[in-house]
Amino acid sequence: MKEIIVPAPAKINLALKIKGVRSDGYHEVELIMQTISLHDRIRIRKNERGIKLTASDPSLPVGQKNLAYRAAEEILNFVNLTAGVDIYIEKRIPVAAGLAGGSTDAAAVLTGINKLFGLSLADEILLEIAARLGSDVPFCLHGGTAFAYGRGEKIRQLPDLNRLNLVLVNPGIPISTPWAYAQYDQSGKASNLPVDQLLQVIEEGKEINWQEGWGNDLEEVVLREYKELSLIKERLKAMGAKFVLMSGSGSTFFAVVENQKAGEEIRANWPGKKDFVTTAWTVKKDFPELW
Ligand code: C5P
Repeated sequence: MKEIIVPAPAKINLALKIKGVRSDGYHEVELIMQTISLHDRIRIRKNERGIKLTASDPSLPVGQKNLAYRAAEEILNFVNLTAGVDIYIEKRIPVAAGLAGGSTDAAAVLTGINKLFGLSLADEILLEIAARLGSDVPFCLHGGTAFAYGRGEKIRQLPDLNRLNLVLVNPGIPISTPWAYAQYDQSGKASNLPVDQLLQVIEEGKEINWQEGWGNDLEEVVLREYKELSLIKERLKAMGAKFVLMSGSGSTFFAVVENQKAGEEIRANWPGKKDFVTTAWTVKKDFPELW
């Protein structure tokens, strides 16, 4: 095998609860993570030596500042391979958008290099390398529906949800994750999100009741600073969404809608012409439908 193409899907957070600040500066969190159909595509080719990264989006960094580059470095170093790789990222996930776009590209590089070179690295090894790269990267290796805890790097896989139809709206406002967490700390709030209850509903395979107050602890502090984001949330609700929540530290909002047609209608009639708007749906562990 000379090259491989790997899908790198985005994630949303069905819940994001902040439990406190840790001694290492990270926050102890409880997240319900969900892979969605929106995805980048990563092409990896063997070369003689070195790592070369290119991307369809010229604004992406192509050196060590790109997590996908660092993923390649880490895994090639780990197995002491002298061969190198050419990586091309076809970017479709908005960047700095709360959708784990950078993390999923990094995870796809780990999966891709493992397969391309027939390394057969154990999952525990890949998860360990992934955790060094970033808190969301371990989840992105397998995706599906999962409970993430610790700083988000510890994963407990959950049963796949029945397909949820979604609409995503991103207004192109990049939000820094450290900034959002710092705002939360300054607010002095203590979380009362019922993540345990949502976890139980999913583990028992029951239908999720969207009225129960699932949420994202970062949403309120981000909305306070970026007033224009509230309008997105209100519009999505007014257009018939069952549930609307900010993903991660924003600025993407996802809406759960009745069916694909309802999602298409919102997308077609969305008034913000500069916004990134797309329909999407939830996908299962290892995202078989995206390969
Ligand atoms: O782990 P990652 O590099 O993706 O995290 C980016 C930043 O987000 C961290 O440097 C930290 O400021 C913040 N963060 C946090 N607590 C977490 C995850 C991320 O404070 N659990």
